[in-house]
Amino acid sequence: MKRNYLFFVSKLLLIALLSAQCNHSLQAPQLGEAPIDDVVAAMTLEEKAMLLVGTGMAGGEGNEEREAPVVGVTNNIVPGAAGTTFAIERLGIPAIVLADGPAGLRISPTRENDENTYYCTAFPIETSLASSWNTALVEEAGKTIGEEIREYGVDVLLAPALNIHRHPLGGRNFEYYSEDPLISGKMAAAMVNGVQAQGVGTSIKHLAANNQETERRGIDTKVSPRALREIYLKGFEIAVKKSSPWTVMSSYNKINGTEASHNTDLLTSVLREDWGFEGMVMTDWFGGTNATEQVIAGNDLLMPGAKKQMNIIIDAVKTGTLDEKLLDRNVKRVLELVMKTPCFKGIPFSNKPDLNAHADVSRRLATEGMVLLKNNNNALPLEKVQNIAAFGFGSYDFIADGTGSGDVNEAYTVSLVKGLANAGYIVDTGLEAFYTNYISEEKPKVSKPRTFHDPIISIPEADIPISLIEEMAAVTDVAFISIGRISGEFKDRDLANEQYKIGDYYLTQTEKNLITNVSKIFQASGKKAILILNVGGVIELTEVKDAPDAILLAWQPGLEAGNAIADVLSGKVNPSGHLATTFLSSVKELSGKTFPGTPASQPKEVTYDEGIYVGYRYYDTFGVKPLYEFGYGLSYTTFAYSNLDTKRESDVVKISVTVTNTGKKDGKEVAQVYVAAPKGKLDKPVQELRAFGKTNLLEPGESQVLSFELTNKDIASFDENQSAWITETGKYEVRIGASSRDIKLKAAFNVEEDVTVESVSKVLALQAPIDEKQNN
Ligand code: BGC
Repeated sequence: MKRNYLFFVSKLLLIALLSAQCNHSLQAPQLGEAPIDDVVAAMTLEEKAMLLVGTGMAGGEGNEEREAPVVGVTNNIVPGAAGTTFAIERLGIPAIVLADGPAGLRISPTRENDENTYYCTAFPIETSLASSWNTALVEEAGKTIGEEIREYGVDVLLAPALNIHRHPLGGRNFEYYSEDPLISGKMAAAMVNGVQAQGVGTSIKHLAANNQETERRGIDTKVSPRALREIYLKGFEIAVKKSSPWTVMSSYNKINGTEASHNTDLLTSVLREDWGFEGMVMTDWFGGTNATEQVIAGNDLLMPGAKKQMNIIIDAVKTGTLDEKLLDRNVKRVLELVMKTPCFKGIPFSNKPDLNAHADVSRRLATEGMVLLKNNNNALPLEKVQNIAAFGFGSYDFIADGTGSGDVNEAYTVSLVKGLANAGYIVDTGLEAFYTNYISEEKPKVSKPRTFHDPIISIPEADIPISLIEEMAAVTDVAFISIGRISGEFKDRDLANEQYKIGDYYLTQTEKNLITNVSKIFQASGKKAILILNVGGVIELTEVKDAPDAILLAWQPGLEAGNAIADVLSGKVNPSGHLATTFLSSVKELSGKTFPGTPASQPKEVTYDEGIYVGYRYYDTFGVKPLYEFGYGLSYTTFAYSNLDTKRESDVVKISVTVTNTGKKDGKEVAQVYVAAPKGKLDKPVQELRAFGKTNLLEPGESQVLSFELTNKDIASFDENQSAWITETGKYEVRIGASSRDIKLKAAFNVEEDVTVESVSKVLALQAPIDEKQNN
């Protein structure tokens, strides 16, 4: 509001001054009025360098260069946003504001000398959104987030993030969608389309192969061009082609020896030439080490920006190591971005987004992303239940989302017990008092994060006396046990944290005891025990999965957490989420074993020797039986699949299938289309997800026909020798099902001859071949 006003007033004053001098020829060309090339031509070298480098971080805007792994924070314009660009008023170029992130806008909730608050809506984490398999809903979420960022005066959202879940211990997996590139790309495209429909921008991130936090700024990712194209770049390719994001953020890591932000192969050959990207590229915050190389590679904007980088660019032009034409190319891209923004267009903002309406959207999304992993004897939805016992301190201290730049400053998080109480259940007050007391005693004992990049240490789970569980089983109707996990930027997850006696990938003995004891004692009294997982990524459940009657994977569901969970537990919403990432029986069985690289003490490189065999592509091909497979999820109703029809017409396979609700409750089904391709000269996974769809809410007995189309590109593999996507001749099997291992119907079609679908730049080669141990 204020910011536009000031900018326009100064612009008017400048024009008035120049007109008063009656010397129009002296007036510099104004962005938006004069052709963009004239504006670039009128810029001094210093101004060009300034525009390619952001204004810096809070505490020393524009000057400092920090090496510490901090996430962006600026005091300029919108406090707590991640960064801003420079304004050049004489040319009519305003500063624009960039802010995180993937689960909603991250800005400071309060401002100095200002009584207003600026809280934002915490939406469910991206892994939860992906579990909805509902691109229309994710697009709606995007529209809501877009409205919120516009109303807070932000121009570009630094999201969605779509790196692949290569390993369950990836600290930022919660910010990413899936182990599968198709679902990642489609979700990202839906989010971008939604956000950008509000006239604000997005930055899809982090391009590319940024799958771990350990040594994230120095690690050299060794990965074959095929695995890059099919797995790590594929989602970005889909998002670029299906949604035209305004910007792309390059990643910190090296790819086959070259930093992503210095990588012309990646940022120019692949992104622009192969995929047709026409927007602007920015670095991740403090990413890269050589400003000149970044300019040359086509990394247009260096964020958050430091004076030193400007000087390097200016000197490089002066000494002839940097062609000014490249500067002009990048400057033009920054200006094109600026011209799209609400700030440039003078669109007013209220600083008062409709947070209540946005919380409703967040709640709806959260319910749709929850995955019912187990439901013995229809333990859920709750029936004839009034009094509840909530075990696990997390029931009272619920986690809305992860930490780091993926965190949101929300006004509140509805805990599980609050949500259940809101839904009319009676929470046992004695147990509640026990846990509230426990939390207030334990929290001061764990070290608090001293800086933004210190991890949040959780408190250990409480040991609950058997007598207390017995007492609860006597006086309440059902037990809930919440298990929570939090992770975030700067640090990969642990298997467990011995020092603080807290679990991470593994459950602690106390947690296992809690789950098994509560389950046994309640079941012995003829009552049910329900396990609620409040996690950002996968955990090991093998030892406890048999104990409870039901398991609901709630993820980190955003600020309406407890209300959304109560919607599902009560049956108001029938769960329809399916896993977009595999839960294994044992971490020993996973693909991507080289994580987080070598040498172990401080990894310098990580070799993706599993190649394309990531997640279910590996488990399905090499006979590993997951605990809960990719695509898995239960419902309170049942569905039948019929009338699978597959036709191949002029290089397009048209598929349709009828899905019928055969149960007794309204529900939605996720139909997944896997294709098993013939082995030709290229090795192929047993099957790959090639399309998916979600039904509307179907009443009992109601049917819906879902249709899909697969082009040759959709079923192609990448041939490194030809540097081309090829569809090999032979029989292709279409497998439609409710998960990767619950295939309901199959059909086949033939491809008569090898087809070279698309030739692309022969780039991103490995310096030395890696031994892709496909069946390690
Ligand atoms: C993160 C980015 C984020 C940026 C700005 C970096 O540390 O990796 O995802 O957008 O900070 O906050």
